[in-house]
Amino acid sequence: MKLTVNGTTYEVDVEEDMPLLWVLRDELGLTGPKYGCGIAQCGSCTVHVNGMAVRSCVYPASAVSGEVTTIEGLGTPASRHAVQDAWIEHQVAQCGYCQSGQIMQAAALLSEIAEPTDEQINDAMAGNLCRCGTYPRIHAAIKTASVKLRGV
Ligand code: FES
Ligand code: FES
Repeated sequence: MKLTVNGTTYEVDVEEDMPLLWVLRDELGLTGPKYGCGIAQCGSCTVHVNGMAVRSCVYPASAVSGEVTTIEGLGTPASRHAVQDAWIEHQVAQCGYCQSGQIMQAAALLSEIAEPTDEQINDAMAGNLCRCGTYPRIHAAIKTASVKLRGV
């Protein structure tokens, strides 16, 4: 099958039902998305398909129609996404394992709702677990990123 990931189209020879996470990590070497639970419960594998956040551990690669974006393609060191800048500003990460999923979930939220309320942030991020308990800093960083993205 053909997959477009971070702007590059790849041809991969995999089983139809292989989850997207396995293709990204094992076939394409994109190890930013992490394996946590494997059952769509933790969010560490979150990537974007056509800008929507999906759980790549349960999303069959064959179901992808359009563009996949992983944390590797969200921004570059020279041109970071506003969410990535805010994460650095708030020093959000501890062990870091959940953080690419958190950032991808937050970026999808802000592309849908430019100025989310506290409740909308809590709702959107509720399924992304962090064993290190970085939730308050995640919340603050999303607020900061929202301000930056709106240019206010
Ligand atoms: S690894 Fe996909 S949601 Fe946990
Ligand atoms: S930073 Fe360690 S699990 Fe979230």
